[in-house]
Amino acid sequence: MCGIVGYNGKKKAVDILLDSLSKLEYRGYDSAGIAIRDKEIEVYKAKGKLANLKEKLEKKDLKGTIGIGHTRWATHGEPSENNAHPHTSNDGSITLVHNGIIENYQELIQKLEKHDYKFYSETDTEVLANIIDYYYKKYKMGPIDAINRTMVRVRGSYAIAVMFEEHPDEIWVARKDSPMIIGQNEDGTYLASDVPAILKYTNQVYYIDNLEAACLKKDQVTFYDLNGDTIEKELTTIKWNAEAAEKEGYEHFMLKEIFEQPDVIKKTINYYIQNNKIDLSKSGITKDVLKSFKEIYIIACGSAYHVGINAQYIFEELARIPVRVEIASEFRYRHPILDKKGLAIIISQSGETADSLAALREAKKQGVKTLAIINVVGSSIAREADYVLYTIAGPEIAVATTKAFSAQLIVSYILAIEMAHIRRKINAKLNLELIKEIQTLPDKVQYILDNLTHSIQKISSEFSYVHDAFYIGRNLDYAISLEGSLKLKEVSYIHSEAYAAGELKHGTISLIEDKTLVIGVITQEEVYEKTISNLVEVKSRGAFIITVSSDNLDVDKVSDYSIKIPETNKYFYPSLTVIPLQLLGYYITIARGLDVDKPRNLAKSVTVE
Ligand code: M6R
Repeated sequence: MCGIVGYNGKKKAVDILLDSLSKLEYRGYDSAGIAIRDKEIEVYKAKGKLANLKEKLEKKDLKGTIGIGHTRWATHGEPSENNAHPHTSNDGSITLVHNGIIENYQELIQKLEKHDYKFYSETDTEVLANIIDYYYKKYKMGPIDAINRTMVRVRGSYAIAVMFEEHPDEIWVARKDSPMIIGQNEDGTYLASDVPAILKYTNQVYYIDNLEAACLKKDQVTFYDLNGDTIEKELTTIKWNAEAAEKEGYEHFMLKEIFEQPDVIKKTINYYIQNNKIDLSKSGITKDVLKSFKEIYIIACGSAYHVGINAQYIFEELARIPVRVEIASEFRYRHPILDKKGLAIIISQSGETADSLAALREAKKQGVKTLAIINVVGSSIAREADYVLYTIAGPEIAVATTKAFSAQLIVSYILAIEMAHIRRKINAKLNLELIKEIQTLPDKVQYILDNLTHSIQKISSEFSYVHDAFYIGRNLDYAISLEGSLKLKEVSYIHSEAYAAGELKHGTISLIEDKTLVIGVITQEEVYEKTISNLVEVKSRGAFIITVSSDNLDVDKVSDYSIKIPETNKYFYPSLTVIPLQLLGYYITIARGLDVDKPRNLAKSVTVE
C-alpha cells in the first residue's frame, strides 16, 4: 500500500528520494514525506499527492546525501500532514518510515505511555519509532539490537527504514510480510518498496527476507538475522529496463501499458513456447508432477481472480480437471478443505498481495503443492511458492492492471494446454493447433489496437455521463465481463456490474431502464443465441447496447454500437475481448477528467489485509 524509499550515497538525497517516490505513487498518494540529514535530520511532509511535497521543497536547498521517504495510503488515521510519514520518536532521535500494519499498536502505546512516551498522530507507525527508541536507550546495545527486539515485540506486517540520530552515516531497515528491495551502485545504496522506484539508478538489488534487518552505508550493505548475526547475500541483476517504468510519450501509464500488450503477450508466449512445444521447466515443475494433480485451487484477488475464473472454464473443459477459484481474502478464514493431491495456483502481478500470500501459506500448511503465476521476480509469493511461472510483462505502474492481466491469461492458457496434453485429454493435432493459434494472439491484439482505438475513444466520450453500466456474457464471455466491469468502475467511478447473461432475469433486470448502458460480450458460439436473447430482453426495456463480438457472429439486431474483434480459438477470446473493454474504461475515465493512473482510494499493491 504505502511506498518507502531511501538513499545513502554521494549525491543529493532529495532529488533521488522525490524521483523514487514518484515511481511509487501508485502504491498510495494521500500524503508524502521525506527526512534528510545534513547536520541534523529534517522532516518535510505534505498532505495529498507528491506534487504538494515537491512544491513545499522547491525553494529549499537540501544538501544532505542521506535520507528516507514515504508515500502514504492511509490505514490508521485520516490522510493529513500530521499522520504522514516520516514519524519521529519523542525526543527526535529516531526517524522512521513504514509500510504495513502494526496489529498490536494499542497495546504497545499503553506500554510506552507507562514510560512517559507521548503520541501526536493517529497512526500505528509512530509506536514503532518510540519502541525502537525505548529498546535503544534501555539496552544501549546499538541499532540492530533495538530493531531485533522491536521485531520480536510487534505483530503485523512492516517494511521500515530508520535513521538514528546517533548513527549519522547509516540507514537501518527491516521487514516482515511487506515488500522491500535494496539496491547498490557506485553512487550509493538505495532502498524501495518496489524495483521501478530505483531502476533508473541501479538494476543490482538484494532481497531482504522476513525478520531480517540491514544497515545501509554509502558503499556497503550489511544484513543481519534476528540473532544479530550477519548474513551473506548476493546481488541480483534485474532484467527490466529503466524506460519500462517511464511514460515514454504516452499521456498515461494505463494507455502505455494497454499498447504494450502485443509485445508482452509475445514475450510471455516465447518464454514458454519454442518450436511449437510448451516448456514449463523454468518453473521447476516436471511433467510427472503436473500429471499427478487431482484438482486445482486457483486463489487470487481482483483482476488476478478474474484470470482465475477465465482459467477455470479452460482447465475444466480442455484438461478435464476440477477447478475451484477462490477469493484470497476469504480463502483461509473459511477453513477450506484441500486434497493433498491438489495444486494451489496463486495468481498475482505484484507477488506481494497480503491475502494471496496468506492463502499460499494456508495451502502449504495443508500439505498442498503451490504454483505461483507472478510478474515481479523475487517477490514474496514467488519466493515462497514451490513452483513459479513468471509473466513477462515488465513493470506495471498504472493502478488498474492491463498488461499483467493479459500476460496472466496467456500463462493460464499455456498451463491448461500442457495439462490437457499430459493428461491425454487432447490429441497431438489439437495440441499443435492450440499452440499455433496462441502465437497469433499478439498480431490480433495489435490489429484491435490499430483499428479500433479511435472509434472506442469516440463512443467513450458519449458515455462519460452514465451512472451505471452492466456487462453481460456467458461462459468465457462472462468471465471476461467481470474484468471489463472492474476496469470501468475502478478508474471512472461509474457503478458497474458484470453478470452471467442468464442470471440477469433473476433480479438485476429490474435495474434496466431507458438508456441504461449494457455491454454484451459475444464470442462463444455454443451460447451465442442465448446471449443474443438476453440482450434482446434488455434492449426491449430501453438499454443502450454496446457489443464486443467476434467477426463471424451476427450481432446487428441487438447492437446500438458494435465492436468487432478478429476470430480465434474459443479458449483464447478473453485475450482479444479484454482489449476494447480496457480501452472503454480508459477513455470514459479520460472523458470524465479523472486521474486514470491513480484512482482515488486505491493502491497498486495491497500489502495489508
Ligand atoms: O498484485 P496482484 O495481482 O496480487 O493484485 C491483485 C489486485 O489487487 C489487482 O488486480 C487489483 O484488482 C487491480 N486494481 C486491478 O486493476
